[in-house]
Amino acid sequence: MLNILVTGGAGYIGSHTSLRLLEAGNNIVVLDNLYSGYRWAVPKEAVFYEGDIHNRALVADIINKHDITAVVHFAGYIVVPESVSNPSKYYQNNVISSFELIDICIQQGVKHFVFSSSAAVYGIPSTTTVDETVEPNPINPYGRSKLITEWTLQDLGFAAGDEFEFVALRYFNVAGAYNGGMLGQATPEATHLIKVACEAACGKRDGMAIFGTDYDTSDGTCVRDYIHVEDLAEAHLDTLDYLSEGGQSTIVNCGYGRGFSVKEVVKTVKEVSGSDFSVSMETRRPGDPPQLIADNSKIKKVFNWQARFDDLETICRTAYEWEKNLT
Ligand code: UFG
Repeated sequence: MLNILVTGGAGYIGSHTSLRLLEAGNNIVVLDNLYSGYRWAVPKEAVFYEGDIHNRALVADIINKHDITAVVHFAGYIVVPESVSNPSKYYQNNVISSFELIDICIQQGVKHFVFSSSAAVYGIPSTTTVDETVEPNPINPYGRSKLITEWTLQDLGFAAGDEFEFVALRYFNVAGAYNGGMLGQATPEATHLIKVACEAACGKRDGMAIFGTDYDTSDGTCVRDYIHVEDLAEAHLDTLDYLSEGGQSTIVNCGYGRGFSVKEVVKTVKEVSGSDFSVSMETRRPGDPPQLIADNSKIKKVFNWQARFDDLETICRTAYEWEKNLT
């Protein structure tokens, strides 16, 4: 049983993970400024603080008051195109605020830190699947903001010696919703493919667009490795077990190791919803790599992680069911 601080625990992935960590018997404290999270998404058994991760006094207070030994850091902005048009927002929050958080955590004696990094750090990989040894080369400010925070952890963690270990989890494309129907992605003005397609299927928007049909992929649209949010939540539990058992700092991909094109995703959402919403073909969106698929050997080997929802239909169906009930 651990006392865990979850930043961004009112958000999409943070709330699913908080729930899973609670189910496993841990004490959870959530810190979230509710910028894109919701108070209702925080499990009722968790202690909740509304506030910012760069508020060092608040974070120090929480760590001491709740005897926090592990931090899972989700809080951050996540929209690739927005990072291209408004990079300052990403440097301010994802880079500077994360630095403040990591620094105060180490100062206050937090031992273990799990960071929500991203496959966006890879940029445009030259291999079909990408493993953690590939040199990162992000092509957008979002990816850079995640890489800089990985470096922050490496440098500050190195200086702290055995007192501090971290794991950066590089998420691929997270989607789907909790099977019980009580949690899912609620972000307004969504930009993520499956969420957008589900909104179109529910009639919440007048159709959708496919951005780019001239990529060098099987059908010309971008290919991504879509991972169900419940499998990703489980990966955090496995990560904390690894650290509790004395695991060293490391970086791990979170994906299934296979990809689907934008067209395949849209087709699947149409099938599970029974809605033939309109789809227009548009030009490429800036900052999009053609293909991103995880080599997931490491997460399976080092954490013994097992995927339970590696199925595009299940991912799209749970996302659609959630969207239908979301007002
Ligand atoms: N897409 C469309 N139409 C839409 C929305 C998206 O065609 O309405 C396309 C995009 O152009 C892209 C693909 O669908 O080719 C996936 O786009 P998303 O916006 O769903 O996701 P991204 O791949 O841009 O980024 C997501 C997360 C990042 C993460 C990355 C890892 O937002 O946090 O996956 O692969 F880093």
